[in-house]
Amino acid sequence: MINTKKTFLFAVVSVKAAVILLVTCATVDFDTSVEANSGFIKHTTSLIDKRIELKVDSVLALMTIDEKIGQLVQYSGKWNATGPSTSERDQYKYNKLKKGEVGSMLNVASVASIRETQRIVMENSRLKIPLIFAYDVIHGYKTIFPIPLGESASWDLDIIEQSAAIAAKEASASGLNWTFAPMIDVSRDARWGRVMEGSGEDTYLTTKIGVARIKGFQGDDLSATHTIAACAKHFAGYGFGEAGRDYNTVNIGEYELHNTILPPFKAAAEAGVATFMNAFNDIDGIPATGHRHLQRDLLKNEWNWPGLMVSDWGSIGEMIAHGYAKDLKHASEIAINAGSDMDMESYAYEASLKTLIEGGKVSIDVINDAVSRVLRIKFQLGLFDDPYKYCDTEREKTEIYSKENLEIARDVAKKSIVLLKNDNQVLPLSKDIKSIAVIGPLADDKNAPLGNWRAEGDYNSAVSLLEGVKQAVSKSTTIHYEKGIELTVPTVKPGENQFLIPLEFNTTDRLGIKKAVEAAKKAEVVLLAIGEDAYQTGEGRSQVDIGFKGLQLELLEAIQKVNKNIVIVLMNGRPMDLTRASEVAPTILECWHLGSESGNAIADVIFGDYNPSGKLPVSFPHHVGQEPLYYNQKNTGRPHGLKQVTYSAYRDAPRFALYPFGHGLSYTTFKYDNLTLDKTEIKATDSINVSVSITNAGDTDGEEVVQLYIRDLVGSLVRPIKELKGFKKLMIKAGETKTVTFTINAETLQFYTANKKWEVEPGAFEVWVGGSSVATLQKGFSVVE
Ligand code: NOJ
Repeated sequence: MINTKKTFLFAVVSVKAAVILLVTCATVDFDTSVEANSGFIKHTTSLIDKRIELKVDSVLALMTIDEKIGQLVQYSGKWNATGPSTSERDQYKYNKLKKGEVGSMLNVASVASIRETQRIVMENSRLKIPLIFAYDVIHGYKTIFPIPLGESASWDLDIIEQSAAIAAKEASASGLNWTFAPMIDVSRDARWGRVMEGSGEDTYLTTKIGVARIKGFQGDDLSATHTIAACAKHFAGYGFGEAGRDYNTVNIGEYELHNTILPPFKAAAEAGVATFMNAFNDIDGIPATGHRHLQRDLLKNEWNWPGLMVSDWGSIGEMIAHGYAKDLKHASEIAINAGSDMDMESYAYEASLKTLIEGGKVSIDVINDAVSRVLRIKFQLGLFDDPYKYCDTEREKTEIYSKENLEIARDVAKKSIVLLKNDNQVLPLSKDIKSIAVIGPLADDKNAPLGNWRAEGDYNSAVSLLEGVKQAVSKSTTIHYEKGIELTVPTVKPGENQFLIPLEFNTTDRLGIKKAVEAAKKAEVVLLAIGEDAYQTGEGRSQVDIGFKGLQLELLEAIQKVNKNIVIVLMNGRPMDLTRASEVAPTILECWHLGSESGNAIADVIFGDYNPSGKLPVSFPHHVGQEPLYYNQKNTGRPHGLKQVTYSAYRDAPRFALYPFGHGLSYTTFKYDNLTLDKTEIKATDSINVSVSITNAGDTDGEEVVQLYIRDLVGSLVRPIKELKGFKKLMIKAGETKTVTFTINAETLQFYTANKKWEVEPGAFEVWVGGSSVATLQKGFSVVE
């Protein structure tokens, strides 16, 4: 136990002594029964480095109340590196930094500005506790990777981890220590703009991808200079905002919360994610930021997670607008007691925590626990050893946007593309094709492919589709390029940040359509690049209409009258309504917003250098009215009708998806056969091996994502009609047959039951293996008592 040492630490009064003590602690070994942080919360020792805990306690012992509260404050700032700006707000922040009353900054990015901001603290504050610098590094830092939803379509955990590792390497080379990613909100509503930032509609897939991203960002060692702290967000329920409206209320039952939303967060905590972020929404009336049960009881106590919970931007203060707190002071009381450790931009904690402590509304144990969580990460990152550790101008020059990083971005991008349809095998095209028309508002767009949340990605820096095609085709090919229409009418100047500014769509200027039609007439094949602007998805970008905005469908209709060989090159950040497009175009290639190497990656697929292998992580509906739409629905009491109307369906659209979850074609065909279970009856503690053979029945080598689904037929709670429980991506050569084996065990079969426990319930199960969620190869087994 550390009690005697703590008493000693409290006796340390001077900063100098503390420094000596820190150095000493680093070399001492302690017994294993450490309880961290004043005994307020007991952590599992496995996630905690005992030596760091002693250092944390020693620093904590030296801190005044104001300094402690300061560590719980996070400010945003594009900080003026050569000194404080004259703006009143910046001046205020500058003074707080000097006093050591800020724990973290976000949105300060670059070695020069981070070094300068750190210097203000290190040279002026009493305790010289280094700042931790955070940024939204969501899908790359300067080398931009596909948006997370697109990257998830690769179902390739290795490349997803690799892309996060490169993002971390570049961000840390710019001085950063912490990213607000991954977003692991399961989301089933295509209207929600932030669908682009997650891994789609499925809990299992989101869990696997979330953990891969955390591993990529954090590596095995947070103190290494190329790794950064990750952040599992948004805890919890943010992806379930009613009607897909951003920040909206979430009405979700306790069982659904546990079975659908929380598993990725539990896995993130177990994977050692350094931080969590809470959320803007309320869940059943309680704002997530003030949700004590979720943050304190479940995450910090039951799951024993020792990391730092940061609020979302202003979300502490927003509890006033929610009607949950009467003022900032009340909001602070609710948030800190609920387990929200750091205040991002609400200016609430700095204004009220001291009075709340003095008035007995917040205990010092709660504060000490929160501060310890901040200090712990700073120690883990090695910032106490060297606050400028990540400020290396040489790294900033050589490790960012390197040729090697761009090559990997291209690889990830091509693996994220999904071939939705390919009637008459229009694709792949020969590189010697005589003539090709490249048409559409996104065809030569170098900006949209960067997507939203592009960190330091430079304006207009992506390889456009047109550029990619030009690079790929032979000299004899004639390319007819026409934009046809503009998608948007500018609302910012070229290069200005559109992040907060609404888009306007072009609904009147049709002048270019005629020229586009002429180009289409002259070409063997039309590549039509349509979809969404980068800023159509992301924060605050919910839409009721998920079809093609502006004049895009008009352009498509005009072209299909003169040339039927259309390949729609779709660039977008959410599932779209593709009903009309699917009727007229034989081929649709889902290219998301693919990042820096977009055009090259698309050309790799179009001209057959890469055989597409992506699979949808979300269902694409026939009509927006089906949203929220997801494959793992419940059956309802009236799943089928005969000739009458009284069953659960729509009268004017199908119930299921146009392009379902897990769907994605290849230039070859895969045949599934011999589904075998090595047992048909097991006890809950046993396991079953499920194997299947997959034959590449075409003449092109290709990768396939083999997917395992189960259904628990009768439960103490109604279970979904299908649930993804395993997948494997593998290369199968033309003509080759491979066998894939999955193991089904208690982990696969359990769910949060009516007993409010994770349990396997005895009874009958069905199992399917196939290339999408509509897999038909099926067998059954049962679990007996
Ligand atoms: C608000 C977003 O919800 C969150 O995801 C993001 O990390 C913060 N802003 C900081 O930019």
